[in-house]
Amino acid sequence: MDKLISSRCNLQHWPDSYVLPPESRPGEEEFALCEVIPVIDLGQDRAENVQQVLKAGQEFGFFQLTNHGVSKKLMIDVLEVAEEFFELPIEDKASVYSEDPKRSCRLYTSIDYDKEKVHFWRDSLRHPCHPVDEHIRCWPEKPARYRELLGKYSVEVRKLSMLLLELIGEGLGQESGFFERGELNRVQLMALNCYPPCPNPSLTLGLPRHGDVNLITVLLQGPVHGLQVLNDGQWLALQPLPDAFVINIGLALQIISNGKLRSAEHRVTTNRTSARTTVTTFIHPSGDCLVEPAKVIINNHNPPLYRSFLYKDFLSTYIVDTYEGKPPLKRYTL
Ligand code: OGA
Ligand code: NI
Repeated sequence: MDKLISSRCNLQHWPDSYVLPPESRPGEEEFALCEVIPVIDLGQDRAENVQQVLKAGQEFGFFQLTNHGVSKKLMIDVLEVAEEFFELPIEDKASVYSEDPKRSCRLYTSIDYDKEKVHFWRDSLRHPCHPVDEHIRCWPEKPARYRELLGKYSVEVRKLSMLLLELIGEGLGQESGFFERGELNRVQLMALNCYPPCPNPSLTLGLPRHGDVNLITVLLQGPVHGLQVLNDGQWLALQPLPDAFVINIGLALQIISNGKLRSAEHRVTTNRTSARTTVTTFIHPSGDCLVEPAKVIINNHNPPLYRSFLYKDFLSTYIVDTYEGKPPLKRYTL
């Protein structure tokens, strides 16, 4: 429990173990909030949305989404209950804290705290959430509204994620239901992230530079910024928009699209004054799925860029490669 950053961040002395090597530090520079990452209004014409989602996925790997059908009230309530979770007394948090990565619902601060060279300024609670009934009993019992609100939210976000995958499939020339078949879209994990105020934001990060491993990620955030996206060697600081979700393409979808969509690397910076809470939903294939460039995309002019693999094998190598700072797709690239 004392490894949690929320238990440590009031320390008098800045712990050295959070100081990044100079080349990875965000530095003192103020990042201007960027306005180039596309904002897509999902209330528009479907064919137009398909093109917009594809273009944003190609150019940035990231976009924000408005008019997405998830109730604003629910978004506000979920962020509130996430904040309340991290403010619970230590005894309550202790009941879900675990250093065992096999435990399906757990509060922790890093995948491998004892091995990593530098720690990051974030705590995370994560658990599976689809189907809700199958998992809800392992979710935290406190705050009292947690299960009800997160249950509702998981269902809403699943609907939205499936719609996005349909649009993407359509744009890639797939027949309808492509991601449904073979359980490519089966697994849904949720992470509640807490980035407490940090006395020294120039030396540390909330999350290091990484690409998400899964198909797509749906991020709910409040008004506090911190997420940065790597584009053409530049860090773009994403401007939070009220009521919008941030969507990003994961590595598995980059592979299925044979590189047509890209998974952009991103990181999270901290700030001195405000805690930042985010709720991320990750859509993954099930472990036994064969992941490979979709057959309809492949032809003589467009040969496969990646080899086929079982998703569970990719998950293991992703963790090892990311930990060692190696590009996680290298061993799958033809
Ligand atoms: C992640 C992630 C961003 C954020 O959990 O993979 O990139 O702003 N989160 O919390
Ligand atoms: Ni991420």
